[in-house]
Amino acid sequence: MQPSASERDPYNGLARAEPTLPSSAYWDAETYQRDLEAIWYRNWLLVCREADLAQPLAFRTFRVGTQEIVVLRDDIGELHAFHNTCRHRGSQLCQESEGRLKARLITCPYHAWSYSLRGDLVRVPSKSLPDGFDKADHPLYRVALSVWRGFVFINLREDAAGSAQASFDPASGNLGNWPLETLVSGHVLRKVMNCNWKIFWENFNECLHCPGVHKDLSRLVPIYGRGLMSRHDDPEWVRNADNDAPEFSGGLRSGAETWSRDGRAHGPLFPGLTPAERAAGQTYATSLPSMFIVGHVDYVRTVRLMPLGPEQTGLIAEWLFAPETLAATDIDNIIAFGTQVLEEDTAICEINQNGLHSKRHMAGVLMPEEYDLHRFHNWVRERHATRETTG
Ligand code: FES
Ligand SMILES: [Fe+2]
Repeated sequence: MQPSASERDPYNGLARAEPTLPSSAYWDAETYQRDLEAIWYRNWLLVCREADLAQPLAFRTFRVGTQEIVVLRDDIGELHAFHNTCRHRGSQLCQESEGRLKARLITCPYHAWSYSLRGDLVRVPSKSLPDGFDKADHPLYRVALSVWRGFVFINLREDAAGSAQASFDPASGNLGNWPLETLVSGHVLRKVMNCNWKIFWENFNECLHCPGVHKDLSRLVPIYGRGLMSRHDDPEWVRNADNDAPEFSGGLRSGAETWSRDGRAHGPLFPGLTPAERAAGQTYATSLPSMFIVGHVDYVRTVRLMPLGPEQTGLIAEWLFAPETLAATDIDNIIAFGTQVLEEDTAICEINQNGLHSKRHMAGVLMPEEYDLHRFHNWVRERHATRETTG
């Protein structure tokens, strides 16, 4: 017997009222510390693109919670990541956020211990070395690094295993047909959001807010205007199972090709996309907790998060284009649209944060459309639980 339509592809919505995380999870210093230890210091995190470290001796420094990391390209072209801390008495090594090392050594500004670009301690300018001291025992603290399709990820776990590829949510989209490695940066937007990092991901994981918060986006993506993310978010989806109108299928409004102010593509479409990928309008791939990337027919946008404090999160959005698009096309229309959507989201995230200190609000409650948010909450809960059992 053929499975029924609802058995093949069931309704996405939550069947019962699920609680949110407790309100204190969004501002309490202790929970923030637990988030850092259980999540941010144990997962693959996007830091930059390989192209940002194109030249030998190029370096960048990054802060993750309280940890500072230096990522560099050595003289034979390999990338390395280290804690930005000297093995002598713990001085910071690099002070700038980016640049090029002046020599094939990293030299501490305090007492001039020098390390090779692979992190080995090579020079200690003391008059003599004490008994029991071996330079080989004092390399820089190495940090695991993994390159995924031109994007550089680090992992602060000492025993980090696997690769950044495995950090992508398999339930999110596949960008295999987008030429990510060869794209170039057309625009970068940096923001400090006054909200906990989890508030941003919660907002990302539902579109109930779309009709009210994103008027223009809701016109471009009609299903968002219904407060839904995809066809199976509608309890009545079976009634419209064969209806390919975008308010049911999830694609862009008729005549639109991409996320831009006028809905038009600006430059050649990526040639490798399937008709379904072109019709989808947007394809998201997510790697918790640090990034998502969305593919459109003519460009790609990444959003990277870094926790700065219990109620502060850094956000860097970057628009990536084929080199020929950037050379030939005015991209303002694209940048303006994405910026507007991001500004709308970050503003509402800050408003959400503002309300969470009420002594009466212990936790919230989720509606059926917030099923992905519930999945995110469970992901956070599981990481905290695993951390507690494994120490
Ligand atoms: S702290 Fe770096 S050389 Fe002394
Ligand atoms: Fe939004």
